[in-house]
Amino acid sequence: MEQAFLDGLRKIVGQQGLKDGSQVARYNEDPRGRFKGNAQLVVRPETTDQVAKIVTLCNDARVGIIPFSGGTGVVAGQLVIEDTPTLVLSLDRMNRVREISTDDSVLVAEAGCVLENIHAAAEEHDLVFPLNMASKGSCCIGGNLATNAGGIQVVRHGNARDLCLGLEAVLPDGSVYSDLSPLRKNNTGYDLRHLLIGSEGTLGIITAATLVLKPADPETATALCAIATPAAALDLYKHLRKQLGEGLSALELMSGFGLKLVFSQFPSLTSPFRASHKWVLLVEAGGALGITEKLEAALAECFEKELVFDAVVAQSAAQRQSLWNLRENTPEANRLAGAFCNSDTSVPISKVGAFIECTRAKVSSVHPDLRINTYGHIGDGNIHQNVLPPDGISKESFLEANAGVIEAVRMAINDATMQFDGSISAEHGIGRLKKADLKQYAPRHKLGAIKKIKQALDPNNIMNPGAIIG
Ligand code: LAC
Ligand code: ZN
Repeated sequence: MEQAFLDGLRKIVGQQGLKDGSQVARYNEDPRGRFKGNAQLVVRPETTDQVAKIVTLCNDARVGIIPFSGGTGVVAGQLVIEDTPTLVLSLDRMNRVREISTDDSVLVAEAGCVLENIHAAAEEHDLVFPLNMASKGSCCIGGNLATNAGGIQVVRHGNARDLCLGLEAVLPDGSVYSDLSPLRKNNTGYDLRHLLIGSEGTLGIITAATLVLKPADPETATALCAIATPAAALDLYKHLRKQLGEGLSALELMSGFGLKLVFSQFPSLTSPFRASHKWVLLVEAGGALGITEKLEAALAECFEKELVFDAVVAQSAAQRQSLWNLRENTPEANRLAGAFCNSDTSVPISKVGAFIECTRAKVSSVHPDLRINTYGHIGDGNIHQNVLPPDGISKESFLEANAGVIEAVRMAINDATMQFDGSISAEHGIGRLKKADLKQYAPRHKLGAIKKIKQALDPNNIMNPGAIIG
């Protein structure tokens, strides 16, 4: 990058708004360790006006920009991988909750706000912002919206898209799209908000958002249920939905194998069951006082129907958290245990059971001793398959001895996904990891439209160049 360009940046954000050299290491890390970024320069604006000036400068100089908030994305959407001149624009200094309106039930947060801090701000008013996921302590709302993140409460509250009423964003030409209005109804032409949400920073930089707040539930009921198969989880879901209605907020499938990984990687975590089970379902429901008794009664019926054969219902906030710890530590346990493939598939809910059986068979035919940890948000039809080397073999030596195995496993899961009319990316996005998959599986007219929209809004291809397409 030329000196005049660097001077221009310094003029906008000051020296403390720039990072380079050893200071940029964290921006080059991939949470799953598959990629290594090569960012040399990070710019840290404090205001939307500064973002707009940086974008204008970059557009004029044809320098690419990768927006970065929490850095927790798992598809390399936030990493500089390509060789073209590209800087990282970190939103970490834009981390304020600008306002809360209890009358409109909204909160306006800047893109660099950590999700957990948004939860806390809402809680002060006895309200909740119901987007939630294991990375809540480090992911930020800008990235959540840019990837249309899902998480653990989609079954009740929808994904990031469903929880955002308005956006402020800087478009590739440096103009500011400012529509932070809390309107619930607004049919005035194309909705740029929905185009920007899920565009992974390729059409603009989200700088702030108006978020939906909901009343806090007077009571939350949480249970861990032992079940025979993933298909039984869906029968259980149907039954519980009838009994508990819209309050059912989480249905997280975990495998007995996955729990063993969690216990071995995190020895302080223990099973609430005496026996070990092949499959368990973490169920949560919120509602009026008495919802725990309602859940217990519904589960008793499920025992009789033989949908559940063991269950623990949390009797305190601490017990509830200890059940969630098993789920929240699952991705990290997979990583520590050597997972080399992590899928993010959704299929129609009616097909989840058959899809899981099919994928496991296809992965086993790649190598019979591979271990598969199947888990995920079964109420959304969103299943993660984490594939690990055979027992006792390290990831490194297995991959070295089995060249091409990552690709073969990936294709096995993709084949099953297509067979069951699913999506290759349910909630993580495309980033750089799944570009080839998108090209292969997206309908032609969709890819064509994506390219035309990109060309129209970002003709110089400066916004996250190399992500999603290109
Ligand atoms: C999860 C992440 C991997 O569900 O999406 O844990
Ligand atoms: Zn997930």
